[in-house]
Amino acid sequence: MALNLELIRQQFPSLDRKDVFFDNPGGTQISKPSLDRINEYLLECNANHEGAFPTSQQSDAVLHEAHVAMADFLNASSPDEIVFGNNMTTLTLHMSRSLARTLNAGDEIVVTRLDHDANISPWLLVAEDRDCKVTWIDFDVEDGTLKVGEFAKAMERKPKIVAFGYASNALGTVNPVRKLTKMAKDAGALVYIDAVQYAPHGPMDVQNLGCDFLVCSAYNLERSFATGAHLPFAHLSGYGL
Ligand SMILES: Cc1ncc(COP(=O)(O)O)c(C=O)c1O
Repeated sequence: MALNLELIRQQFPSLDRKDVFFDNPGGTQISKPSLDRINEYLLECNANHEGAFPTSQQSDAVLHEAHVAMADFLNASSPDEIVFGNNMTTLTLHMSRSLARTLNAGDEIVVTRLDHDANISPWLLVAEDRDCKVTWIDFDVEDGTLKVGEFAKAMERKPKIVAFGYASNALGTVNPVRKLTKMAKDAGALVYIDAVQYAPHGPMDVQNLGCDFLVCSAYNLERSFATGAHLPFAHLSGYGL
């Protein structure tokens, strides 16, 4: 089916400028319907959570609708798996602090050199605090792909947490995430996937992936949210995006 580009362009008021620049690290262009929903919420029912008064109830209904929409976007099995947060980095810092409590000295955490720092530094801080070992997975400098053989070797040491990206912000490499997730789950690890760069470009199905956490950035997508598929504390509020 051909995309109606004219219709899509019309949704983005910023495109009325001919010199708009499509950088994304600080946020992508926002569509008019999204801006309208934000305004509508703030003007009509901005209220605290779970109050007995109408604006609070209306606000909770909007919040629930957002969780349902995001669960649909990620194919999460329940809206309760969705946790919204400030951005991917903040969510990852929160999640990593929670997970740190489950780790012991000598436990292993796996990170990759193909990842954005937001999916590395939080784990390095956890490793420092809990006296854990960090294993780095390298990538092939010729073709920019993750060294899956190294990854497989690392799984033999039964790491507790494995963090990797869906797509690289630096090179555009799309990792074989389903395969990596299966290898890590077979080794008994928790899997934490950074999907910030993939989420705006391809369909995601967290149930099919079988990951424990997948995080995206709403404002990089024109949206930021997080999802924790299997752990109770992920139900606190946003599936790691
Ligand atoms: C691959 C990747 N991961 C994580 C981040 C950090 O996302 P956030 O700004 O939502 O913390 C970025 C930012 O561009 C990114 O490209």
